[in-house]
Amino acid sequence: MRKPVVLITGAGGEIGHSLVTRLSDAGTAVITLDLTPLDATLAPRVLREFTGSITDVPLLDRLLAQFEVGVIYHLAARLSSRSEFTPVTAHHVNVEGTLNLLEFAQHEGESHGRPVTFVYPSSIAAYGLPSLEAKARAGRVREDEHLQPTTMYGCNKLYCELLGDYYARHYKQLSVDTIPRVDFRAVRFPGLISATTVPAGGTSDYAPEMIHAAAKRQPYACFVRPDTTIPFMAMPDASAALQALAEAPRERLRRTTYNVSAFSRSAEEIRHTVQAAFPNAEISYKIDYKRQGIVDSWPADVDDAAARADWGFAPSYEFGRAFREYLIPAIGSFYAS
Ligand code: SER
Repeated sequence: MRKPVVLITGAGGEIGHSLVTRLSDAGTAVITLDLTPLDATLAPRVLREFTGSITDVPLLDRLLAQFEVGVIYHLAARLSSRSEFTPVTAHHVNVEGTLNLLEFAQHEGESHGRPVTFVYPSSIAAYGLPSLEAKARAGRVREDEHLQPTTMYGCNKLYCELLGDYYARHYKQLSVDTIPRVDFRAVRFPGLISATTVPAGGTSDYAPEMIHAAAKRQPYACFVRPDTTIPFMAMPDASAALQALAEAPRERLRRTTYNVSAFSRSAEEIRHTVQAAFPNAEISYKIDYKRQGIVDSWPADVDDAAARADWGFAPSYEFGRAFREYLIPAIGSFYAS
């Protein structure tokens, strides 16, 4: 008998930390796949941890043989800035890795006879506005607008949304004996801010880096202009959104991919708030024009009405509350310990 479990790829990453904690607190049996071993806070929370790559198909076959996976949270990816340095590797991991997981889900579904819920974090990077004027005009962007990403990561995310939709609705449509077994659901995350982890290789990283540097009493040079504005979300709301989407009744979901967001703020507004919380913080600006160009192509805000209507998305942390009740107390105790 194979064991019924939830699989999380990229479990040791930022979202993974929050999601593994949330699901294991709820008593869910979780198995994980990550390139490196889980840290001591996560490892005891999971039923079984696999160390390896999502590009390793024989490893995925071993998981298939041993576990009955009903839900997959496929978090493993290379983020946007990092992907620009090695775009072919990024494509290999972000696209071919996702294809491997979709095939894995299809085979799991075939073997246990029920669709596998496949939850995929897409990104605001799927959008691409050609200029700051277009960004100002676009306002709160809806899911089907401005889908001309400028980064390899954004292209990868947008394509994998389509690939997931293909597995969910059209898989091998000309074969008589194969039916879709993948229930694919995606959110497009804004920039995410966690109190307990820092991102690696993203382009929205200036916000979390600014906060963590202030908490550690280190100077920080923000790599985008003060007026740079994109939407953000606190990490507990991000992992809660993934869980809520996974648990939503299928018939309520009218889309494959949903925008989600909590607050849209400029780098300068974030700097002010960090400075108020940590009065000794030394925050300056040193613009990286290439990374600036990427963030300028992302919308200043997104319309998440569909997520709110279809599966009850409702973030707990607006900007003020995220700082007052989550980031400042949690970062303070994180670095104190
Ligand atoms: N936060 C991610 C990045 O900056 C976008 O999804 O790459």
